Amino acid sequence: MIPKGKRKTMRILAIESSCDESAAAVLDADRGLLAHELFSQIDLHRIYGGVVPELASRDHVQRLLPLVEAALARARTSAADIDGIAYTAGPGLIGALLCGAALARSLAYAWGVPSIGVHHLEGHLLAPLLEPDPPPFPHLALLVSGGHTMLIEARAIGAYTLLGETRDDAAGEAFDKSAKLLGLPYPGGPELAKLAVTGRAGQYDFPRPMVDRPGLEFSFSGLKTKVLHAVRAFPDAQDAAQLQRARADVAYELQEAVVDTLLIKALRALEQTGRDALVVAGGVGANLRLRERLNAEAARRGLRVYYPRLEFCTDNAAMIAVAGLARLQAGERDGPAIAARARWPLDTLRPLAAG
Ligand code: KG4
Ligand code: ZN
Repeated sequence: MIPKGKRKTMRILAIESSCDESAAAVLDADRGLLAHELFSQIDLHRIYGGVVPELASRDHVQRLLPLVEAALARARTSAADIDGIAYTAGPGLIGALLCGAALARSLAYAWGVPSIGVHHLEGHLLAPLLEPDPPPFPHLALLVSGGHTMLIEARAIGAYTLLGETRDDAAGEAFDKSAKLLGLPYPGGPELAKLAVTGRAGQYDFPRPMVDRPGLEFSFSGLKTKVLHAVRAFPDAQDAAQLQRARADVAYELQEAVVDTLLIKALRALEQTGRDALVVAGGVGANLRLRERLNAEAARRGLRVYYPRLEFCTDNAAMIAVAGLARLQAGERDGPAIAARARWPLDTLRPLAAG
């Protein structure tokens, strides 16, 4: 253990519990990410076909403290070496958020260190800062998760302008709901992407919603209706091979439609803002077809695209640590009350630098 006074660098613990992942991480300002631990509740929610909020909270309460202990042990860090605690304060499931907030605030109180509630989406946006080649500011960000689809101009940490978002379903929801219609297990996004690999092009004609209109808004709810119609017209279930081919063809076309739409709007936003760096964050950022198409287009146009490593596209505590460390280093602190917010607009955050 190093006496706190002798150590100049800041080392923090971070906790994530906004939905169905419980996670803890330790991040050191000089030495980088020292540990990150995660428990996914997927198996708990699978039989219900989606996240059950009450079950999520009950599980977070049980998982979080052992994850904190595991992260500290892996980081070879004792409580006395922790200078601050960050946790996800919103947006998300309120009961789930309160589990992480209450634990983080209690530990901070017991250890005599400051705490900071972090915006979950700021965590997603800053996840690529953990990579060896981090994105420069200003940049454009495409945030594509299970709950959000947004194009954001990020001028500095905390200085975000929302340029466009979805009017209905998020990109991840389009994957998940289509996957459900195709009979794939929850969570459907990665499963649908797997099935799409064996699908054939040109078997279905799905639209690229709103691309022929000006602007940077998205709408994905119509695509699941297309999938529903396609599923209803599937061949007789007795011909198993033919049915499997049809399912793969629908998965292929759904993925192409979502990826095309994201690509067209992201390129339009880059053109409109004059930016040449794009950050892709959130769970759908793990989609390999999206990465392949974006990388090819970026190479053609001389643009740079930045992604978090695959495991940090979906929810994790490492990204919460990045955002929390930046804010704690800037002197931000929680107020006296424990506050978690189910809704929290991203553009109400305090910028850490003029931008
Ligand atoms: O960021 P995230 O973990 O949670 C939210 O904050 O929403 O994103 C989860 C979403 C889910 O909709 C999931 O199906 C989707 O990301 N997802 C994917 C892939 N991996 C995760 N969608 C398409 N392809 C993938 N490989
Ligand atoms: Zn998330």
